[in-house]
Amino acid sequence: MGFNPKSEIRNPQLEHITVLLRETVDLIQPRPGGVYLDGTLGGGGHAEELLRRTGPDGIVIGLDQDEGALVRAAERLSPFGTRAVVRRENFRNAAEALADLGLEAIDGAILDLGLSWFHLRTPERGFSFQTDGPLDMRMDQRTRSTAADLVNTLPRQELTRILREYGEEKKAALIAKAIEKARTRGPITSTVQLAEIVSSVFPPYPPRRIHPATLSFQALRIAVNDEMNTLAAGLEDLIRLLRPGGRIAVISFHSLEDRIVKQSFVEHAKTCICPPKFPQCRCGKRADLLIVTKRPISASEAEIASNPASRSAKLRAAEKVG
Ligand SMILES: C[S@@+](CC[C@H](N)C(=O)[O-])C[C@H]1O[C@@H](n2cnc3c(N)ncnc32)[C@H](O)[C@@H]1O
Repeated sequence: MGFNPKSEIRNPQLEHITVLLRETVDLIQPRPGGVYLDGTLGGGGHAEELLRRTGPDGIVIGLDQDEGALVRAAERLSPFGTRAVVRRENFRNAAEALADLGLEAIDGAILDLGLSWFHLRTPERGFSFQTDGPLDMRMDQRTRSTAADLVNTLPRQELTRILREYGEEKKAALIAKAIEKARTRGPITSTVQLAEIVSSVFPPYPPRRIHPATLSFQALRIAVNDEMNTLAAGLEDLIRLLRPGGRIAVISFHSLEDRIVKQSFVEHAKTCICPPKFPQCRCGKRADLLIVTKRPISASEAEIASNPASRSAKLRAAEKVG
């Protein structure tokens, strides 16, 4: 049966619980009448709080590449009328989306990366191996390749690279070999089927703490959605679009993402990048960011108790200077 985002609007099982809500919006320091971008609208929790704190004239532009998320968030934000603008768009195209609205700069931006509950709890989207579904994993269903396309067609070496690089999976080579062998018997089409192939490489589950397929699923999802390149490119654009004094806050959920955020902020906060042996600065580089969170902020014990998905969240923020 086809997946219909509109039919899922009011299913409370699919509600996304916003992570680090107060902490993130506090760091943005929203001001009444400001223009803010939420690049990962999801369930609309952060956007809603931004709209509350910027009334009566503040504007929040919410982007999500996922049609289902967008339909649900638009419904949630409808009480704010024209102050909430939602667009189906990848945040790496934020500059174009803003230009379409006649905007060249913003007062703040939020990225809350990764999946929403809506994705994980909709088996048809193929992100979860807890319930069987087609091996899809596309956040934007207009993307050409699904996870099934990758596991059924990529050479073993490329699968190994993806599993190692994006999943930090120690058994990457063995898993890729098992996938290559399995697909000679017929295409790999479902999430549970892939999870079983991955698990066959590990000692019997459940003695392990996490399911053996967890890192492989993370790796494939990152590859399908080109998440690392998107994050690096998107951050560059958002930082450029910030007005002086404007802030960007990013919540990441695994070390690869957090590393990209940290490195990007550090690069922008650097002044001179001349080799140390130069007696005087010749590069003339000036910092355009001030890092606001010297260390990433994590969820409190209370938040983790009520929403275990917040356990791995890391929040970093920086302010545009100059
Ligand atoms: C963790 S959820 C965001 C939850 C949201 N902050 C809230 O309070 O409900 C992440 C959302 O970002 C979207 N997303 C992920 N990467 C994206 C990208 N590159 N461009 C646009 N949306 C993206 C996903 O489709 C998902 O709906």
